[in-house]
Amino acid sequence: MTKKIVVTGGAGYIGSHVCVELINAGCEILIIDDFSNTHPEAVNRIREIAPGNISLLQCDLANAAQAEEIIEGVKAFGADGAIHLAGLKAVGESVAEPARYYTVSAMLTLVRALEAANARTLVFSSSATVYGELNDNPVKEDGKTGPENPYGRTKLFIEEILKDLSRGNENWRIVNLRYFNPVGAHPSGRIGEDPNGVPNNLFPFIAQVAVGRRDKLMVFGDDYTTRDGTGVRDYIHVSDLARGHVAALDYLSAQKTGGATDINLGTGTGYSVLEAISAFKRASNRDIPYEIAPRRDGDVAEIYANAELAKTLLGWRAEKTIEDMCADHWRWQSDNPDGYES
Ligand code: WQD
Repeated sequence: MTKKIVVTGGAGYIGSHVCVELINAGCEILIIDDFSNTHPEAVNRIREIAPGNISLLQCDLANAAQAEEIIEGVKAFGADGAIHLAGLKAVGESVAEPARYYTVSAMLTLVRALEAANARTLVFSSSATVYGELNDNPVKEDGKTGPENPYGRTKLFIEEILKDLSRGNENWRIVNLRYFNPVGAHPSGRIGEDPNGVPNNLFPFIAQVAVGRRDKLMVFGDDYTTRDGTGVRDYIHVSDLARGHVAALDYLSAQKTGGATDINLGTGTGYSVLEAISAFKRASNRDIPYEIAPRRDGDVAEIYANAELAKTLLGWRAEKTIEDMCADHWRWQSDNPDGYES
């Protein structure tokens, strides 16, 4: 097992859960986060849930003036590898302000830091967004790529850069994890998703309606060719997703040769928007008023994962149900109605 792991974006929604699972697996971690879209309180909560050896470097990987500090920090930490999650993640914002999203230099600074530490092991936070529209479900890793927006393209471009790295130096061991739709929260209710402003994604929006912060949910389209007309997605519990990162590091440390592998992290099961609403209603015992609205630009009718490769290579599979996802998401939302500012 790789022991000293750098987690960029470690204070974020997925990052905080990854940190907890790494500590539980016996790793020491160095979180690199600039708190531009995250909250320092998340680091306190990680320490509370999973006491262990957790260092913090408050830096912006995309800021060239901070690159040397990051490289020195990673070297001094004695890193064995890294999980790269830092980055912006709002699809709509990426369309409006693409230049903020094409910060490939952030990833390259991390690459330089890992080279300086002689630790060429990297797990990259990619996304199912890299897939094009034309794939049959469940989608396999060799499905056609063709992201619809700058956010998705940055994920695909970085995957490609990492493949080039592994072609150039056989010591690079890389996994690109293609996340489906992460939802839920740590069962303690102490860490969870804390979106800035109006949530773009379904679960944080439903949760804010349930807790009374918003009046109603807009369901984007009920005329898709799906079982109830609403969009179908592969929702995955964030703790299952986080365990997938630990499994990916274990896999990489067992590899005799380098390479870069794309792996889906999903459950393999799709739920519609209306099914998600019903499940959340049951879990929260709150009403979730909703209204049918026009389709959202860029949405596909249905996408869910073929999750077999993760089983075969990583020995990992998602264990938590949609009921667990809703119960844990609700516990986080109701215990922290205003997120980390609560
Ligand atoms: C799910 C379903 C919506 C909001 C996006 C990104 C992806 C990843 C996760 C990461 C769809 C419907 C949503 C609402 C709704 N990004 N919906 N009302 O679009 O599958 O994936 O988020 O950081 O890269 O593309 O997830 O949660 O936005 O939507 O009806 O208010 O819920 O139309 O069918 P999506 P989502």
